[in-house]
Amino acid sequence: MCSETVHLPIVKTAVWPDEAATQRFAAALAASPELRNAFIELRGNLGAGKTTLVRHLLRALGVQGRIKSPTYAVVESYELPDLAVWHFDFYRFSDPQEWEDAGFRDIFASPGLKLAEWPDKATGHLPIADLVVQLALQDDTARQVTLTAQTLTGLLLIQDVDSIVPNPTHGQEAISLENLPTQSASRASA
Ligand SMILES: Nc1ncnc2c1ncn2[C@@H]1O[C@H](COP(=O)(O)OP(=O)(O)OP(=O)(O)O)[C@@H](O)[C@H]1O
Ligand SMILES: [Mg+2]
Repeated sequence: MCSETVHLPIVKTAVWPDEAATQRFAAALAASPELRNAFIELRGNLGAGKTTLVRHLLRALGVQGRIKSPTYAVVESYELPDLAVWHFDFYRFSDPQEWEDAGFRDIFASPGLKLAEWPDKATGHLPIADLVVQLALQDDTARQVTLTAQTLTGLLLIQDVDSIVPNPTHGQEAISLENLPTQSASRASA
């Protein structure tokens, strides 16, 4: 038994050349047990692919039927046999009172998977995300991706995805460590 200490956040960059690569990432993410209680932020401009990634993820988790973008409702929820999922889009979120009235505080205090597009619009309300997925258009179908693990859960999510799709792209594949003195995570490994 040995223990390893890592310093967070951990940043990984990649290129997804087409939507099939986005789907492969989503399927790998869906297979991670860490998803059972995680908060993932999806960042990027309009049309970057945030909702598309969430749709592939929800499908991979077993959601059937129409998957609506929560742009107008702010949140869509899904009850899977062993997993509750909330998909937020805070683009139109502006009223802090809504945070309490709509029960968002309770949702973030509950176990399950929380996914949030446009988290900047709810700054001050949201807890620290386990994983931040930043998407940027490279061309019509290629997306530059930055994955940032901010907690041990986020780190394990990245590791689990890597173990399934170790080289999901033809592009950059780099892992760099940034040391933040205030945050560290360790886990024992056999
Ligand atoms: N590699 C890719 N990954 C994700 N989406 C892609 C990719 N290539 C093409 N697309 C297309 O880009 C579009 C992304 O739209 P989507 O609604 O997911 O963006 P969004 O980031 O959620 O935007 P918004 O900020 O308006 O909510 C979709 O039409 C999708 O089919
Ligand atoms: Mg969207």
